[in-house]
Amino acid sequence: MDRTRSDVSTRENARPARPARPARPARPARPAKYHEELAARIKNGNLKIAIYGLGHVGAPLAATWIRAGASVIGFDKSEKVREYAREGRTQIPEPHVNETFSIGLGENRFLIYDDPVAASKDSFFKMICVPVMAENANANLQAVENVASNIAMGLKRGDVVALTPSVPPGTTEDFVLPILEEKSRLECEKDFFVVYNPERIYEGRAIHDIEDGYPAIVAGAGPQSLNVASVIYQLIFKKGVIKLSSPRTAEFEKLIEGVYRDVNIALANELAMISERIGVDFWEARNAANSQSYCHLHRPGIGVGGACIPVYPQFVLDIASKKSIESPITKSGRLVNDRMPSYAVNEALSACQRIQTKTKNLKDYRVTLLGLAFRGGVSDTRLSPTYRVIEELFKKGVKNIQVHDPLVLHDPALLNYHGVSLNSNLALSLRGADLIIIVADHTEYSDLNVEEVGNAIVYDGRGIIDTSRPFGPNLVSMGIGKNMASQLKIQKPSIRDFR
Ligand SMILES: NC(=O)c1ccc[n+]([C@@H]2O[C@H](COP(=O)([O-])OP(=O)(O)OC[C@H]3O[C@@H](n4cnc5c(N)ncnc54)[C@H](O)[C@@H]3O)[C@@H](O)[C@H]2O)c1
Repeated sequence: MDRTRSDVSTRENARPARPARPARPARPARPAKYHEELAARIKNGNLKIAIYGLGHVGAPLAATWIRAGASVIGFDKSEKVREYAREGRTQIPEPHVNETFSIGLGENRFLIYDDPVAASKDSFFKMICVPVMAENANANLQAVENVASNIAMGLKRGDVVALTPSVPPGTTEDFVLPILEEKSRLECEKDFFVVYNPERIYEGRAIHDIEDGYPAIVAGAGPQSLNVASVIYQLIFKKGVIKLSSPRTAEFEKLIEGVYRDVNIALANELAMISERIGVDFWEARNAANSQSYCHLHRPGIGVGGACIPVYPQFVLDIASKKSIESPITKSGRLVNDRMPSYAVNEALSACQRIQTKTKNLKDYRVTLLGLAFRGGVSDTRLSPTYRVIEELFKKGVKNIQVHDPLVLHDPALLNYHGVSLNSNLALSLRGADLIIIVADHTEYSDLNVEEVGNAIVYDGRGIIDTSRPFGPNLVSMGIGKNMASQLKIQKPSIRDFR
């Protein structure tokens, strides 16, 4: 196995490459009694779990461990997050997390530490749950490096360290493991254990996903690491553990999940744009197509956001380019999805100008964007398509923009967009709008009523409005994948157009 760091896409200033390491000899498997004792000691709080990063992934993981009976130490570099956690709160609307934090605090099984090294000294199993975003297609591993160093300074014999963010293949073995060994002066597989376990949750149902949704994907830096990790993860993942042969494989597995979704959404977007022009409702056709067991078309939409799907293809493209491998499908998927905010804004504005009888100058248009979160049901705004939609509207000269979101009450990033306001009152946000664009599929947007909408045109960027119900004489609804031909009075193409 190539143990150099040459495959790991890290920041330019990251740690220098290490020489190749000799393969570790396999040691005999531990007896079943050791596994039983280990499970019992975790459950009775004797061996503590430390979670580094109490965000969208770390907070539900901490809560899941508390629900399983374990004692959890939480550390986050944000003082505010630590302060909230001490009050049994988080800033994320994730079911059961806050209640579980309160129970853990009440039973003295949830301890928030201010010192990350002490958290490592006092824990047995350490989970790294910090973000890894893309910077110019490279993974920014700064937070991982920082946490790994802190853990190493408190590492003891018998401890287990798990990396959970989605990362370029090679990160666990060639980046995290050397930091742990160098700073602790202990040896992996002999003195301590290292695993990679990609988190696969869907925001908004994270605890359910961990406990009941999927098996855990687990890979160890060696057989000892894999053994001990399998015992640990089976305590919370009821669907069990899928053991992979190497961390590199598990790291790539998680990227594959993201690329598959990105490319699939791009295909749906491409077909939806074609449908719009030929008098076909894509949603109707898609539902019928998906009844065939080989067809799994995802939903088209105004943009792909969040900290996961738009990010992982970039890691894959970066690896491919470093290995001089062409990857046109992954690349096109990103391109298609990246263009959707601009496509949607163009379509919505040009439709408005064709349909609305009183033509207004675009600079006098009042546009309401529904949703700032990257998708419905969450408050996470990372890489939300709404920012791109605002930029596209600005380019067209539209200045009067209101954003509504039921879950995002404040957003510092929106301050960068001069004059754009954020509101959580839906009726107020809709009042007087010329154009309403649904950007996130929050459930409350699916049944907008005629009184609220007034004479505005609704552009449904998520395909959530039921257009079969009566909408009122003035209301026109259109959107991605909708049959626009009749709304825009475009003649449907005839067979002659295709000859
Ligand atoms: N959000 C998801 O749905 C999801 C799903 C699957 C996988 N992931 C992966 O998990 C990673 C983490 O995502 P997230 O959504 O939890 O991020 P997040 O931003 O919600 O939370 C990360 C937390 O880590 C803290 N943090 C940052 N640097 C730190 C440091 N040096 N020491 C301690 N704490 C630090 C932050 O303050 C924050 O509270 C992502 O990069 C992604 O690879 C996320």
